[in-house]
Amino acid sequence: MLRVIAIDGPAASGKSSTAGLVAQQLGWAHLDSGALYRALTLAAVDTLGEGGRRKGEEWPAQRILDLADRLPVRLVLVGAKFRPEVAGADVEEAIRTERVTRYVSVVAAIPEIRTWVNTQQRKAVEGGGGGGGGGRGVVVDGRDIGTVVFPEAPLKIFLTATPDERARRRLSQRGQAVDVELVRRESEALAARDAADSNRRIAPLKPAPDAVLLDTTALTLEEQVMHVVELARQRFPG
Ligand code: DC
Repeated sequence: MLRVIAIDGPAASGKSSTAGLVAQQLGWAHLDSGALYRALTLAAVDTLGEGGRRKGEEWPAQRILDLADRLPVRLVLVGAKFRPEVAGADVEEAIRTERVTRYVSVVAAIPEIRTWVNTQQRKAVEGGGGGGGGGRGVVVDGRDIGTVVFPEAPLKIFLTATPDERARRRLSQRGQAVDVELVRRESEALAARDAADSNRRIAPLKPAPDAVLLDTTALTLEEQVMHVVELARQRFPG
């Protein structure tokens, strides 16, 4: 049995925090697939420039994929977390900057890029213990993990929360004051990214038919983690 838990959901729904803590409690590894899209975007913006930002075709997929091989862009298992690397450097912080966030949806909408990222994820899971045979599995979070990348995952979670609540969480994570105007603006920015991710032709953001839907608007992080860990203990006994 594939030892993978798929956690999908919109931006700032708490996927990565939840996936990291669930992995920690189960003694599994954690793979944040968005980090790989972000690392590719960082490489594209740094090396190919921002000029082609409006249209995916101005950053031809093949040039980004050549860069990915040459630099290389990859995921490296450090302890229990797959970390994104570009040219041998840990880019965990650089990929969270506004410059990358602005363009990542464009890069993630390119079919060839998605195929490449999916292959990296499947290889990482095989190498990270999730391929079966007991022991350590992998908690993978993203937008299409339960629908496209690991449709055979025995446990799939789809996290949601209202846009305002997600905006509040994002602002307090950044240490910013949570005032009404800022929440409104952040909530609009999140909604725009969700729309781009949900309306794209390939692998749009949506729950798998057999996903467990979890609305976290009124839950604490501890509560949502506990809930997923309980489900995991039922689905992966022993
Ligand atoms: O989760 P995140 O905000 O770091 O994701 C960054 C972008 O990557 C997001 O706009 C959607 C895209 N993404 C995707 O299309 N599929 C995934 N499995 C993960 C992320």
